[in-house]
Amino acid sequence: MKRKSLLALVLTLVLSLMLAACGGNETATQSSEGGAPADTGETFVLKAGHSLPDTHPYELALLEVAKNVEERTEGRVKIETFPNSQIGAERELTEGLTLGTVDIVVSSTAPITNFVPDLGVLDLPFLFDSREKAVEVLNGEIGQELFDKIGEQGIMAMSWGENGYRHITNAKRPVTTPEDLKGLKIRTQENQYHLAAFEALGAQPTPMAWTEALTGLQQGVVDAQENPIIVADQFNLFESNQKYMTLTGHVYSVAIYMLSQATYDKLPEDLREIVVDELVKAGPFERDLLVKMDQESLEKVKAQGMEVIEEVDVAPFREAITSVYDKYDNQDLLNRILEAQK
Ligand code: PAF
Repeated sequence: MKRKSLLALVLTLVLSLMLAACGGNETATQSSEGGAPADTGETFVLKAGHSLPDTHPYELALLEVAKNVEERTEGRVKIETFPNSQIGAERELTEGLTLGTVDIVVSSTAPITNFVPDLGVLDLPFLFDSREKAVEVLNGEIGQELFDKIGEQGIMAMSWGENGYRHITNAKRPVTTPEDLKGLKIRTQENQYHLAAFEALGAQPTPMAWTEALTGLQQGVVDAQENPIIVADQFNLFESNQKYMTLTGHVYSVAIYMLSQATYDKLPEDLREIVVDELVKAGPFERDLLVKMDQESLEKVKAQGMEVIEEVDVAPFREAITSVYDKYDNQDLLNRILEAQK
């Protein structure tokens, strides 16, 4: 009897150990080191989307990331890129990151503001005194705080890139003063500060995604748009009736390389580290290319036939839109950015 119960005890113990081992395995694949799933040798294909052509620095930096990630993970992580809004415009792509339906996105900040209101500060006109000051602020404490805010939306902000200084193009007339903008129908990004700025300047702003903007310009639904020179060049805006460009540089348009938290969560530790490491390098890589290529685009748009007003007195533009700063909620953050540039 005694031997029987001992045997039963041993069997029960063995059984419970086996069950625990099975259960343990399941949890291990869910979460081992640092919450990462265990490495089962699985391979991953990640989708990376953005709105610009395959010759734009957004894409060139992503291709560099894709190449390095594939090499370093020995083919276990492949990144497929989808330029030209193929899998959505910037706002949709950002939403896709929160849902985990897109893995990697590079986008200008303006549409991301709809998900992270504090980020709106970066789209206030004439915020930064220079590109160098902007990069310094973004790579410092303030930039990190903004990344943390983005993180709260299930999006991991990896590095700051650059869309470029925004300038106005239009189909109607050379714009040299804010008065010249009166009544011009201008496409803006889906961002309340861009909208308010052009209202304050007396134009008629219509916010829309970039995917709709091109048709809008071609069909004359809008007369004008504002974007970096490289965008005007790579989308041949001269052929979409944009005869004039005024180098107002009213917004230093920042871009962000982002990874979906859901994607990160499903990658084993070693693969995660490589993807993150390469995406952290993407921003500075892209910025260097952008600065050079944006400058080259100036000559190209002129060669396409665009009349470029290069010497612009921006003071009256700046003056006309100061009221926009009052619309921004986090005045403390705004003041810290202004203070950091002194
Ligand atoms: O104007 C926009 O929507 C953006 O600047 C663009 C062209 C999509 C690049 O990020």
